[in-house]
Amino acid sequence: MDGVTVIDHPLVQHKLTLMRKQETSTASFRRLLREISTLLCYEVTRDLDITTIDIETPMGPMSAPILEGKKLVFASILRAGNGLLEGMLDLVPAARVAHVGLYRDHETLQPVEYYFKAPEDLENRLIIVVDPMLATANSAVAAMDMLKNRGARNIRFLCLLAAPEGIRRFREAHPDIPVFTASIDQGLNEKGYIIPGLGDAGDRMYGTK
Ligand code: URA
Repeated sequence: MDGVTVIDHPLVQHKLTLMRKQETSTASFRRLLREISTLLCYEVTRDLDITTIDIETPMGPMSAPILEGKKLVFASILRAGNGLLEGMLDLVPAARVAHVGLYRDHETLQPVEYYFKAPEDLENRLIIVVDPMLATANSAVAAMDMLKNRGARNIRFLCLLAAPEGIRRFREAHPDIPVFTASIDQGLNEKGYIIPGLGDAGDRMYGTK
């Protein structure tokens, strides 16, 4: 699918299978999500621009590669996005963080905004937006609208699972934003859950119901 990268690394796929299993405990689910998010982060950042700086090693001078440009921004769509965020910050501790508070109204499936906090200069940074589940894409589309309204121009969207319906809707609304996911599942049920999916990511992560 155009603009969509499926991260099919064997470790990602293995951990994802463990996360899908209904008997996986909250503690294991959370640990797996943290582990898998570092692997996803590695893939979503693999083409970042590099520049060089002059350094001294104990053996002498060299010109060494370093990330170019301003610090990345990781934007978490609350609350489930925080599960991906933690592992990504393990890998890129200097990243800036934005929080986008959207919950899904279970009747209408429409996103309701309740919080937004982001670094000032979004226009000069790469923003990687994280949310484990791209289902109807209502929340993801709204989050991208909010970030663009605050100046964001260079955005990537990273999720764990995506439904084909969600990808279509997302790409129609934001064709400039590439999507990275570990799996494209079968589709959505009548309640907007991904099938076979893994259930409610937030509930599984935090042990709520
Ligand atoms: N959000 C979830 O947590 N799970 C789904 O299957 C769909 C949306």
